[in-house]
Order: sequence, then structure tokens, then C-alpha cells
Amino acid sequence: MPDAAHPYPSINGSRLIGRHRSMAAIGATGRGGVNRQALSHEDTQARQLLLSWSSARGYLAEIDPIGNLFIRRIGKQADLPPVMTGSHLDTQPTGGNYDGVFGVLAGFELLESLDDASMNANRSIELVVWMNEEGSRFAPTTMGSAVSAGCLALDVALNAVDTAGVSVRQALDEHLAALPGLGHRPLGSTGHSFVEAHIEQGPILEVERKKIGIVSGIQGMCSLEVEVNGFEAHAGTTPSRNRRDAVVAAMTLLERLRAKLHDPTDVLRFTVGRFEVSPGSPNTVPGRVVFTIDLRHPDVEYMLRCSETIRALSSGTVEACSVNSRLHLQSDPVQFAPSITAEIRSAAVRRNAPHMNIISGATHDSRYAARKMPTGMLFIPCEKGISHNEAESVHADDLIVGAQVLSDTVLSMAGVGP
Ligand code: GLV
Ligand code: MN
Ligand code: MN
Repeated sequence: MPDAAHPYPSINGSRLIGRHRSMAAIGATGRGGVNRQALSHEDTQARQLLLSWSSARGYLAEIDPIGNLFIRRIGKQADLPPVMTGSHLDTQPTGGNYDGVFGVLAGFELLESLDDASMNANRSIELVVWMNEEGSRFAPTTMGSAVSAGCLALDVALNAVDTAGVSVRQALDEHLAALPGLGHRPLGSTGHSFVEAHIEQGPILEVERKKIGIVSGIQGMCSLEVEVNGFEAHAGTTPSRNRRDAVVAAMTLLERLRAKLHDPTDVLRFTVGRFEVSPGSPNTVPGRVVFTIDLRHPDVEYMLRCSETIRALSSGTVEACSVNSRLHLQSDPVQFAPSITAEIRSAAVRRNAPHMNIISGATHDSRYAARKMPTGMLFIPCEKGISHNEAESVHADDLIVGAQVLSDTVLSMAGVGP
């Protein structure tokens, strides 16, 4: 029960761990991870499970036109803007059990622990499950929060297609049909504030032996796609001088890009995570290659210079093939609200949780929430910093401490306690 030292309810740690186990079973890969990509059958099942817990509690559930899901626990002053918290349930194709899921389940846990303690907050508290944070099935990443913040047009997002040619529009229609009875709300939901709990996805907290990272901001990010067009030809008969081999051109281009963008300080992050060869036949000289570039840096000027270099080198002709590029998304670095980081710090101090300031290397939906309301994030450590990997692992104690600090932070802002 809450007391003067801890005026906020204790979260139920075993329920939180149990809920993580239940979610990990949906889309389980058999190698310890999950494949629950945005708007897939498994993503829908995960939301159905969350909604079953929510309706048992009598919370209000609504969805917006891009598929962001909102679960609201009504406060004493229902007309005040709510304090919002949440993250995402979609995963990478070889994802772990905590990226995104932790922030959703920790947020749901704080709603339930308020019920269990028969307490209420002045403000309503709203849990958000953002749609397609990962961007692995449909580009770009953080799609739902970007559309909600007006940074990506709804139509552009709905028309994005996966590698099988299925559009977000089609997948969302099927998703909605599987979630009957949900209320609908317009785009642009906002609130008093937003706090997201997430695993660090890097090694710093573990090395520094800290339990809570108080996130000061998120580094900048560009996501690009490069297309190389050559000419399909017979692999056994076509001499090199007659070839326009799209793989050869793409490799030359990548060598040039890596040389030009080499950063001796190792701050720049440059990743080619998808490389598609067409027609993909062993005995046909490839006529087309499409590859992605994920580029990140905390300094916006540096990031933009790198992005311009990529655009300049990825144009014209390379090894007799034509090359062009497209910028899917450009997000400047984000600074979180000092008022929210101060709340997280106070909560960590009250719970005796060793903490430190940290900048996020990964991107998060909080990037876009910050456009609309004071926003902040807290991190918990994950083993060896491994994430976007089925081996992603988090100590149960760290989940519990993180969820408790999130709960105290949100409840303090929502007006619970003294
Ligand atoms: C989020 O998953 C990211 O790519 O940083
Ligand atoms: Mn995430
Ligand atoms: Mn992720």
C-alpha cells in the first residue's frame, strides 16, 4: 500500500513478467524471439490479447485512422488532457521479446496497479500502442506516430506496400475487421504529456551498472532507398564487357559510399539492412538492385551532409547502370522536455534506482510525440546491449524497477498521491 515514502502504488511484478511471457508466445520464432511485424496476423493477435485485458478492467479503447491504439483509464477530471504513455507491439522479423513490448506492458501495469490500490488520478491516463514503429514490413519506421504528428501524410502511409505488394490500407482493413467493437477517433491525439519506457538497446547502462537511463533526446536519422537498374542477361553467355550488372554497380557504389562516409570517431551509423536483387535467379545477370540506407548521427548538420553525399553519389551512371535514390524519412535530432526528465529523475531517486543521463541511438515514437506535447523517455538495461535480435534479454528485476519508475513518473504528472 502507498505510504508517505512511496505515495504511489507498487506495481505487480509477477503479473508484469507473466504478461511479457504471454506476449512472447505470439509470433514466437522457436529461437527465443518473435516475428510480429506491423499489421500481421500476429500483431493483431497481440492487440487482441491486450484488448481482452483492457475490457476486463473496463478501460476505453479506441483506434485512429492509421491504426494507433489508445486505452484510456478515466481520471477524476475527465475533461483535462490525459497523461499518455506507451510504445509498440510490432517487432522486427527476428525481433526480441522486449523492444516496444516493455513500454506497452509497463504502461498497462500502471493502470492496473492503480485499480488494485483503489486509487484514481486527477487526469485520465492513456496507454498508446503506436502502429508500425519498426518499419520492417512497411517503410518508414515510426509510421503511426509520424502520421499522428502530421509529419507524414496519411495517404502516403496507407499506400506504402510490403515486399509482397500488400498495402498498409489493405492490411489495416483486415486488422480492423479482427478488432470489432473498437471506438474510432480522428488523427492527432494529444495530451498533457507523453512518457515512454523502453529497453536501452545498447550496452551503456549495463556497463555503468545503472538501472534507469534518463533519456535526454534521440539522435537524427535519415532513411533512404537506392535503386540500381542494369540489364538482365544470360549468365553463361554474356561477356563482362557487354554486361550491365546491377549487383556489380551496387557493390561499387557501396564501396564509394563507405569510403566517403568513413567516420574515424565512429559516431556515424550507416547500415544497409535490405538488399534486394532482381530477378534473383542464379543464372541471370541481375537487372535490378534496390537497397536501403539507415543513417544516424546526433549532429543534424553532419547528418544532412552525409545524406547529401549519398544522394549525390547515388545518381547518374555507375558501372553502366543507372542509379537513383529516394529519401523516405528525415528526422532531426530531438531534445526531450526538461520537465519530464526531471520527473523521471525524481521517481528514480525515490525508488533508489541507480540512474544516469543517456542519449538514444535508436529511434522511437517519442520523437513524434515530442512534436505535440512535453515528452520524455526512460531506458532500462538489456543484456550486452543486444537488440533487434532474437537473443534480446532483460533481467526480470530490471523490468520491474523500470515499470515502477514509469508508474511513479506518470502518476506524479497525472496527480495521484499527496
Ligand atoms: C527502431 O527500431 C530503430 O530503428 O531505431
Ligand atoms: Mn522499439
Ligand atoms: Mn526496434
